[in-house]
Amino acid sequence: MKNIVVLVSGGGTNLQALIDAEKRGELGPGKISCVISSSPSAYALTRAADNGIRTVTLPKKGVGREEYTHQMVELLKAEKADLVILAGFMVILGEEMAQAFPNAIMNVHPALIPSFCGPGYYGLHVHEAVLAAGVKVTGATIHFVNEVCDGGPIILQGTVPVENDDTPEVLQRRVMENVEWKLLPKAARLFCEGKIHVEGNIAKVY
Ligand code: GAR
Repeated sequence: MKNIVVLVSGGGTNLQALIDAEKRGELGPGKISCVISSSPSAYALTRAADNGIRTVTLPKKGVGREEYTHQMVELLKAEKADLVILAGFMVILGEEMAQAFPNAIMNVHPALIPSFCGPGYYGLHVHEAVLAAGVKVTGATIHFVNEVCDGGPIILQGTVPVENDDTPEVLQRRVMENVEWKLLPKAARLFCEGKIHVEGNIAKVY
């Protein structure tokens, strides 16, 4: 069994996709062992509790980045995390995190990296930027986390069209439904089955 610890900050629809996949036996040897939230009011905590998954709240408010990162690393080590998944986790963690879990932290980003990513590109802001640029295709990326914000090896990507009358909310929903909720559980399974090999900044899936 591989312990998967999921980090959340908000609604937790990606966490729900992981929970549903595990129930269907689609995470292979992966098991969601704990959910950690940066916010005590995140609805994701309710989703976890409703499914009998242990939760921990590590509030970000009032804690500096390096101190918060250190607390998180200690917590993840105590949880014996094999894979850490950032599923709508809205805190940028310091370098200690990637160094403690090299190529063992996954993030879901709601655009096609290397476009529309980096500091300031999170949640609905990403879709607003996509619409403002007038691109005709967008999507989501599952990638490993390294020291560079949204810069680690890309594991899986999927695309959706951008339609003329899209709002950021409509586009977000299309990206989530068609890409994020499908590819995140798939990437978790591939990791737990040892099917992702990283060379430098390139991830190859077998
Ligand atoms: C998702 O769209 C995820 O890709 C995005 O926030 C949303 C969280 O939704 N993450 C980022 O923007 C990280 N940079 P959820 O809480 O319902 O899973």
